[in-house]
Amino acid sequence: MAFVAVSDLLRAADADGYAVGAFNLNNLEILQAIIAAAEAEQAPVIIQATQGGIKYGGLDYIAAMARVAAEEARVPVALNLDHGTSFEQAVRCIKAGFSAVMVDGSKLPFDENAALVKKVVDVAHAVGVSVEAELGKIGGTEDNITVSQREALMTDPEEAAEFVARSGADALAVSIGTAHGVYQGEPKLDFARLQEIARAVSIPLVLHGASGVPDGSIREAVRLGIRKINIDTEIRLAFAGSLRELLARDAGVYDPREILGTAREAMQKVVQEKIRLFGASGKARSAGGAGR
Ligand code: 13P
Repeated sequence: MAFVAVSDLLRAADADGYAVGAFNLNNLEILQAIIAAAEAEQAPVIIQATQGGIKYGGLDYIAAMARVAAEEARVPVALNLDHGTSFEQAVRCIKAGFSAVMVDGSKLPFDENAALVKKVVDVAHAVGVSVEAELGKIGGTEDNITVSQREALMTDPEEAAEFVARSGADALAVSIGTAHGVYQGEPKLDFARLQEIARAVSIPLVLHGASGVPDGSIREAVRLGIRKINIDTEIRLAFAGSLRELLARDAGVYDPREILGTAREAMQKVVQEKIRLFGASGKARSAGGAGR
């Protein structure tokens, strides 16, 4: 199957009360691990590349690898640009065949963020590509800021409603207390805020920075309306941990297939656990989705 539209996957998830996992790829083994996990769980899956991942792997390589994976997979697969920051980047990815793009204008003033997303939406929708936007700032691991500073960075429910109406986005990444990368303490999610945003906004909501968030908090976030969950760091940690362990244990190993093949298995395990946690296991058939 060709890539499916993310909006189709998220609509099905919303009707059934689960979240679709969105996993970042940077190389072949990560992609294979994600697809193998989705197939083992019979789950729809979103693979995504950041601008950094695209710079590392090359846009055409990333798009071609992902396209082959989607065509061969026995589950619905979407390809998303993660944290694109410009109109030009979004258009390059749409041209390369991505079925969704995220435009992250969260560092811009509200009006400029909405205008940038709207500009991308107008082009993307013309060719059946869906658009994710972000309102509020999802930090790095900035744990030493005050509560009021933290709250100021979070998504405001009323602003979210206006932002969605103005931008025409198909999905909205919200800031409710998560951060990208490795947490120093346990992340505390603002569920009351999430509930208010879900009430104010009718499009699917996205949780970034989900690595390291306790399972109970993830389940609660899904219950309250999160429909797409991004995981990157835990895949990286599994990859690096596997390499470190194997190379320390066996000084004679030198075959990349053995080294990276072991890492691939470790990453697949992480992705499968996340898919199960998100409630997406067994949903491949009902998720459907029109191809791009
Ligand atoms: P983590 O790196 O915390 O898993 O976050 C991933 C993410 O949100 C990518 O956009």
